[in-house]
Amino acid sequence: MSDGHTKMSKTTPMQFVMALLGSLFAPLFAIILIVIMVVKIQMGHATGAPQNMDAKEVEARIKPVGELVAADPNAVHVDMQGDQVFNAVCTACHTPGALGAPKFGNSSEWGPRIKQGYPTLISHALHGIRMMPARGGNADLSDLEVARAVAYMADHGGANFTPPATSADVDKLVASVK
Ligand code: HEC
Repeated sequence: MSDGHTKMSKTTPMQFVMALLGSLFAPLFAIILIVIMVVKIQMGHATGAPQNMDAKEVEARIKPVGELVAADPNAVHVDMQGDQVFNAVCTACHTPGALGAPKFGNSSEWGPRIKQGYPTLISHALHGIRMMPARGGNADLSDLEVARAVAYMADHGGANFTPPATSADVDKLVASVK
């Protein structure tokens, strides 16, 4: 037996355990790092735009360019207010006073018209008079819309007319004109 041999210390159980743990932990540590990396990458994807879009956004992106709108011809007609009708139709002539139309807001031009009475004015607006076209040229306007627009214009010319509640009431009012 040589000295060298006897000098070699015996592996203690403690050293063995440490070596075992070391050899186990090295790959385990690597695995943990890899798992953390993968999870991080996946989380990055999850917060990225495409995965995060809700159904509506997806639909908006893939919807076809053209769109068909099925307009219901029987859709309920919603009557405009007097100022809306005026701004949509009547203003074309009644603001500049075109074709001799009484100017909006001009009480000296509206005074003699107003004296004829609200029903007569509505009747003339509905059926037209001289250069004034029936319904201001917009056949889609309801009787109520025309009556409201007449009141709106006349009231800004010094009158104090209250439009009837419904188109049927307008018709009754106009029927009294002879
Ligand atoms: C294309 C031009 C034009 C448009 C648009 C127009 N008017 Fe007139 N309007 C006239 C003219 C012109 C007169 C004057 C007619 C006359 O007395 O010779 C007039 C007169 C009137 C009068 C007075 C009638 C009378 O008996 O004195 C009323 C009320 C009236 N318009 C209402 C309206 C309403 C309401 C609208 C919108 C819905 C409208 N007008 C849109 C040209 C127009």
